[in-house]
Amino acid sequence: MRAIAVVFLTVPLLAQHGRYLSDSHHPSIGNPEAIAAGTKLFMGSCAGCHGPDGGGGARGPNLVRRSLWHPLSDEAIFQVIRKGVPGTDMPPTKLTDDQTWNLVAFIHALTGPASTNPVPGDAAAGKAVYWGAKAGCANCHAIRGQGGKTAPDLSNVGGSRPLAVIRESIVEPGKDLTYLGNEAAVVELKDGRTLRGVAKNRSNYSLQLVDGTGRLHLLRMSDVKELTLQETTAMPVDYGTRLSRTELRDLLAYLAAQDIRPAEGKGSK
Ligand code: HEC
Ligand code: HEC
Repeated sequence: MRAIAVVFLTVPLLAQHGRYLSDSHHPSIGNPEAIAAGTKLFMGSCAGCHGPDGGGGARGPNLVRRSLWHPLSDEAIFQVIRKGVPGTDMPPTKLTDDQTWNLVAFIHALTGPASTNPVPGDAAAGKAVYWGAKAGCANCHAIRGQGGKTAPDLSNVGGSRPLAVIRESIVEPGKDLTYLGNEAAVVELKDGRTLRGVAKNRSNYSLQLVDGTGRLHLLRMSDVKELTLQETTAMPVDYGTRLSRTELRDLLAYLAAQDIRPAEGKGSK
């Protein structure tokens, strides 16, 4: 296990993880036709810089990762597309309102919560994969009170993460630990105690640590003697091969549907 001793990095936006700004109720959001039209426009006008799947290129950032530390509301994305980002390579456009909303729908599908977008796969079959012995997800993760407590609770994973990020967490675990606020941490306190768990909402002044029993500790950094963050992950790294493509697709459909928000808070489906 590689451990990094921490030079207290300031991560000011960490507290915003998984919070998406004011879901818009514009009819294009979550609408498969609007998303398809937006995909076409994106391929023609945007993919040259942002990559065909928004994954980034030489001249434009990865829009999925960027949304984790710089979440934008649908209206803000609309304005970015219309006006560009002055002083950067992101150009203004002269698209109609409808075309611009189609692009927003595409970007929302890419970077917005998985539960607010159409997702391929069979969620009922995915439920069986999730709770089954082959995947064993519930040994570590809980959904709505059922399952293990050593890993992050997944009751709202679809309501808080884009589909691409959920997929990455499963097939390439460990990649986004810092962004997702899931760093494994060992905290040595000045009073002699040592706590181990997952570091949440870390700032220069405070740290929230969830220990192996699921208990939340609110710590002041002034009480901490040493904080060690681990780059490695406890999440199994072989799901990309252990599960079939169909199992993975269905599992993602099940996870995408995990959303604890009241129904009216969701985008139109
Ligand atoms: C010439 C390259 C280029 C093209 C073409 C381009 N972008 Fe960008 N885009 C950028 C760059 C560079 C940034 C980062 C700007 C910054 O530093 O804030 C960006 C940022 C963005 C952001 C994030 C803004 C934020 O504040 O987080 C969105 C959304 C976006 N682009 C969407 C699009 C869409 C949709 C299109 C097609 C209509 C497009 N871009 C075309 C280069 C480009
Ligand atoms: C041995 C324990 C263990 C098992 C089994 C396990 N996970 Fe994880 N998982 C973790 C831990 C610990 C994390 C916290 C982040 C990390 O360390 O990568 C995590 C992170 C995640 C995340 C990211 C959570 C977030 O906050 O975005 C998702 C999604 C996830 N796991 C899904 C699954 C699924 C689906 C399965 C079954 C196919 C599974 N996990 C099996 C331990 C486990």
